[in-house]
Amino acid sequence: MRNKYVILVICIVAVVVIEKENNIISKVSDKLSLLQAPQTPDPLCFNCSNAPGENSTQFLEPGQKHILLLATTRTGSSFVGEFFNQIGSNMFYMFEPLWHVERTLSHNTDFPNTTISSLAYRDVLLSLFLCDFSLLEQFISPPPQDHVTPALFRRESSKALCEEEVCTPVIRTVFERYRCKTRRCGPLNLTLASEACLRKEHRAIKTVRVRQLEALRLLVEDPRLDIKIIQLVRDPRAVLASRMVAFSKKYQTWKSWAANGEVPIEDEEVKRLQGNCNQLRESAELGLSRPDWLENRYMLVRYEDIARYPMQKAAEMYRFIGIPFTSQAKEWILKNTHASEVASGVYSTQKNSSEQVEKWRFGIPFNLAQVVQEVCGPSMELFGYRFVDSEETLVNKSISLLEEKLFNLP
Ligand SMILES: *[C@@H]1O[C@H](CO)[C@@H](O)[C@H](O)[C@H]1NC(C)=O
Ligand SMILES: *[C@@H]1O[C@H](CO)[C@@H](O)[C@H](O)[C@H]1NC(C)=O
Ligand SMILES: *[C@@H]1O[C@H](CO)[C@@H](O)[C@H](O)[C@H]1NC(C)=O
Ligand SMILES: *[C@@H]1O[C@H](CO)[C@@H](O)[C@H](O)[C@H]1NC(C)=O
Ligand SMILES: *[C@@H]1O[C@H](CO)[C@@H](O)[C@H](O)[C@H]1NC(C)=O
Ligand SMILES: *[C@@H]1O[C@H](CO)[C@@H](O)[C@H](O)[C@H]1NC(C)=O
Repeated sequence: MRNKYVILVICIVAVVVIEKENNIISKVSDKLSLLQAPQTPDPLCFNCSNAPGENSTQFLEPGQKHILLLATTRTGSSFVGEFFNQIGSNMFYMFEPLWHVERTLSHNTDFPNTTISSLAYRDVLLSLFLCDFSLLEQFISPPPQDHVTPALFRRESSKALCEEEVCTPVIRTVFERYRCKTRRCGPLNLTLASEACLRKEHRAIKTVRVRQLEALRLLVEDPRLDIKIIQLVRDPRAVLASRMVAFSKKYQTWKSWAANGEVPIEDEEVKRLQGNCNQLRESAELGLSRPDWLENRYMLVRYEDIARYPMQKAAEMYRFIGIPFTSQAKEWILKNTHASEVASGVYSTQKNSSEQVEKWRFGIPFNLAQVVQEVCGPSMELFGYRFVDSEETLVNKSISLLEEKLFNLP
């Protein structure tokens, strides 16, 4: 029931926005008229005061920053997200809140539409940057009771959501899916979460679900936010190698290609990889072309550079955002980049980063590396990843696959 309601509202808004912007009467609107949608729908944001472009109830405080870390899976985004999570007590950091949105939308097979997803992502991000959890609540499953949930995705990865003030007493009968590590807490009271968020000076969100920078334009232009977008990229060959290990089941096809040496270049999986690479590249091209609306708001960072020069890169990111490099952040980075090898779980961030970053070269067969080069070539060129022409080059560590490249020139 609830899911259907969410979808319905999203579709209504999508149609409203699309019609407003493009004058397109879409397939979805046909479906909606069959569903007899109301004539004057609520905005996607359930709390109208927070809807994009509506009257603000919140004002931007001087110096306040809203940081969006845009990445894809296996690009080191958990690690880089910690640069913000660990910065100190004036940061409200969230690890992938859009997980709930994607899950809810993909459960409804009627509308698996990227246009609609990107609108939903944008509006959930906006409301969260404003410390309003009511829209996200609509996507959490099972639905929160009295604004309380034991199922907020990766709550424990957010220091701010495990602070004393947000930590309610443990309830024995309730299973906490994402348990705080610093202290034992009961289910998350989202009202307390929102209050904690409002107390913090800065807010940061990490996501691997937004692919198109263009789709965030309204968010960037919202006068209630001073948004800074950091797009994190990594060598797509390394990303594939890493995903084949981390998401083993989903990558069975690639594994079979690795084993038998042949890759059907027309396959859906290969097409998907190509589509993803193209979206990343288009976003980066847009950001680097510096349209007015993104002026001083976009930075491109390669994971490989962060792994090699973590302190310098962190300093650059903080400078770009306009927040100080705190001693807590320095300590965390030192500890977690020089630490000796630690068994790494899927989301582990503790590693000897300069060593780890090249490991993939021994984990991916040459034929797969070749396929990636073929379909992701243009983005590899843009980001400065060198092609290999043989198995020997791939595994020869004295040959660097990274061009020294400066993006974001002043
Ligand atoms: C998504 O929906 C919009 C508006 O209804 C439509 O224009 C677009 O073609 C759809 N995209 C996909 C991938 O179905
Ligand atoms: C809407 O948001 C504002 C400010 O964030 C809040 O004061 C208000 O109570 C919210 N209204 C509802 C109905 O949630
Ligand atoms: C914003 O608030 C003002 C005064 O309350 C009102 O006149 C105006 O219509 C509102 N604008 C929007 C877009 O709601
Ligand atoms: C959640 O916290 C708010 C603010 O302290 C409180 O008013 C509310 O009763 C709490 N909700 C529950 C279900 O305990
Ligand atoms: C981390 O890896 C680099 C590169 O292999 C190596 O030089 C360095 O000694 C390693 N550091 C630690 C603490 O293991
Ligand atoms: C690795 O590359 C270097 C530089 O091109 C070359 O001198 C060396 O012989 C290569 N090593 C192997 C094992 O092929």
